[in-house]
Amino acid sequence: MYTSKIVGLGSYVPENVVTNDDLSKVMDTNDAWIQERTGIKERRHIKKGDGNTTAVMGVKASEIALERAGLKPEDIDLIVFATLSPDMYFPGCGVQVQEMMNMRTIPALDVRNQCSGFVYGLSVADQFIKTGMYKNVLVIGSENHSGGLDMTTRGRSVSVIFGDGAGAAVLSRSDKEGHGVLSTHLHSEGAHAKELALMGPSTEHWVPALIEENPQEDIPYYPYMNGQFVFKNAVVRFSEVINEGLQSNGLNTTDIDMLIPHQANLRISQFVQKKFQLSDDKVYNNIQKYGNTTAASIPIALTEAWEEGKIKEGDTVVLAAFGSGFTWGSAIIKW
Ligand code: UT7
Repeated sequence: MYTSKIVGLGSYVPENVVTNDDLSKVMDTNDAWIQERTGIKERRHIKKGDGNTTAVMGVKASEIALERAGLKPEDIDLIVFATLSPDMYFPGCGVQVQEMMNMRTIPALDVRNQCSGFVYGLSVADQFIKTGMYKNVLVIGSENHSGGLDMTTRGRSVSVIFGDGAGAAVLSRSDKEGHGVLSTHLHSEGAHAKELALMGPSTEHWVPALIEENPQEDIPYYPYMNGQFVFKNAVVRFSEVINEGLQSNGLNTTDIDMLIPHQANLRISQFVQKKFQLSDDKVYNNIQKYGNTTAASIPIALTEAWEEGKIKEGDTVVLAAFGSGFTWGSAIIKW
């Protein structure tokens, strides 16, 4: 029986820093509100002409992850790309990475599970490695949110939260038992699909129909979020899925060395930290710098925590995510 191990991590964010004060110049918001409600101080936005796209940022993060893994693009057997903001409606970003990184004609799989996308992708990679089918899998989470946000006061409850960036992990086969990805736990509840959604353009809602069907004040080609409802579900599901992961491995909350929660809102992370009675050094947050980068948030945070020496060999690392779908999931990793 094989296990899968993360052997390389990388992240990339665009250089362009957008502060809360910058946003207050284009919409009715302010630094105090954003910091108090979300913890966010600034985020990165792609700047026109900087060459970044969702796929390009994914490649930049992947190049770092591959170098750290000591692997070459030709060593990768499968690409799993998680995003809600692909460069094209179709095909997905995975095939763009295959081309840009000059990889063999390996499979490229696109995952559409929003904030849970990286955990879903990691789970897919883990299964392919555990069955013995693939040896090295590249999992990417990347988002270009800034291109599709309503940057007026109408969109402020969503637009101040999201940022651009990418993170990547290389998973490799290992035959050492009891280490690497111990287990992953995935869930969904489609009854709440429309509570956090971008309705169109889509096959059900092409642009002319969207314009005809909707009054100006409710524009469905910008993301919609029922913030308080999402928040309430998030804190419950985060807790459930972390507990599920711990229990299935016979672990307790005191066994957690590092929790990397999806960076949705600092208040959600703090709630979870308190519930599991974790000290500050056992929860990693960087939403203050990047906002919510959806599928990219966990791999960016994981990369930074590792770079800062906060994750060591033998540590029990827990990843947990919740978001649009609703979808949620966790991964328990022995580093
Ligand atoms: O990653 C995917 C999962 N996403 C999440 O988990 C997000 C979960 N939800 C949240 O993080 C929070 O609900 C938000 C940060 C989105 C909103 O915070 P809130 O404390 O739930 O605020 P609210 O939506 O209830 O709005 C409170 C007030 C409203 O004004 P009134 O009606 O009380 O006069 C809003 O219009 O704040 C107003 N408001 C703002 N004011 C200044 C909303 N957005 C802004 C803004 N700046 N950007």
